[in-house]
Amino acid sequence: MLTSLERDGAAALDARDPLAGFRERFVIDPHIVYLDGNSLGALPHATVGRLKRLVAQWGQRGVRGWDEGWLELPLEVGDRLGSAVLGAAAGQTVIGDSTTVCFYKLASAALDARPGRTQIVTDVGNFPTDRYVLEGLARARGLEIVWLEDEPHPDVLAARLGSSTALVTFSHVSYRSAQIADMAAIDALVADVGALMLWDLSHSAGSVPISLDGDHAPLAVGCTYKYLNGGPGAPAYMYVSRELQSELRQPIWGWLGRRDPFEMATGYEVSGGMQGFLSGTPPILALAAVDEGVRLIAEAGIDAIRAKGIALTEYAVALVDAILAPHGVGVGSPREVARRGAHVALAHPRARELCARLIEAGVIPDFRRPDVIRFGLSPLSTRFVDVWDGVQALRQALQG
Ligand SMILES: Cc1ncc(COP(=O)(O)O)c(C=O)c1O
Repeated sequence: MLTSLERDGAAALDARDPLAGFRERFVIDPHIVYLDGNSLGALPHATVGRLKRLVAQWGQRGVRGWDEGWLELPLEVGDRLGSAVLGAAAGQTVIGDSTTVCFYKLASAALDARPGRTQIVTDVGNFPTDRYVLEGLARARGLEIVWLEDEPHPDVLAARLGSSTALVTFSHVSYRSAQIADMAAIDALVADVGALMLWDLSHSAGSVPISLDGDHAPLAVGCTYKYLNGGPGAPAYMYVSRELQSELRQPIWGWLGRRDPFEMATGYEVSGGMQGFLSGTPPILALAAVDEGVRLIAEAGIDAIRAKGIALTEYAVALVDAILAPHGVGVGSPREVARRGAHVALAHPRARELCARLIEAGVIPDFRRPDVIRFGLSPLSTRFVDVWDGVQALRQALQG
């Protein structure tokens, strides 16, 4: 409930915020109001130190570094991410390639595991890279894509599933509206028809609790450079539930997915467990940065992060209703907190131009066509006064 429309009200909320101290753990430009952590998360100070040490290790140890912990990083950081963020027991998560490539690998493996089935189900509002990868797979294999017009809802989905469904895939939190999909209900529906479900967790990992094991999710991928603060282009992760690992074969057979890769043997023989979902040499510098981001989330705890994410978005929605609605700005995210992730979509017909003006004024949100400005409210680095400043700047842009 909004008690004050003044900046003091926001400052009072910051004063009571149990996670407030985490902001100091990031490199923050005091002249900027950064509201785009859902696109590229802030840089943790710990990452700066870790990368310095790692670069020194590279300089001093050279190729010996591979035997001094580098080769284990994809599985090690994957397990840490699984435990702190994804609700996944050890041995089911690995850090691999970009989200696009990870998505391709698991979607392709899932389709191979359901031969004879001809349909892929997703929604038209899903993130473009996911849609494009699916279009490519469908074209190459002669499959049909069943497009849901709205964000995934179990009741609507149930009617579109059947014995032809091979693969169903949605984003857990929508990149546009921040709507949270009902993971447990959707996993159950998809399993009922014998298809495989693949989640894109890019906008939920590190912002809302996830229980992949508990919700019986078979497959998931996601970015590490948003709420996990892994840095620009940081590698993504793949989760494959333990029971599926021996059934699925990913399509890019590289040496690091092979059993005993340094034997350089003839013929590909897949390695057991999540190692078999890897392909080539892991990006060690980037992986170390992901590790630091994940450690910060683990330290803060996902429940505390979620509580602050709810408080920040509630505050943003209340300010928008009170201050921006009279100027024609609508809330394009769910109003029910249980269905909303950690960003708020603000809808206005002049969104593109307004977003450019905000950036000129030192407030950094982002624009999503045709009419949405996203305020990304990363719980560990965003203050309530940042929300207040962002809303005031948008009011000024609307009046200017
Ligand atoms: C839901 C979702 N999936 C995938 C991606 C990007 O994939 P990649 O890291 O391969 O560019 C994004 C980027 O914003 C995203 O929001």
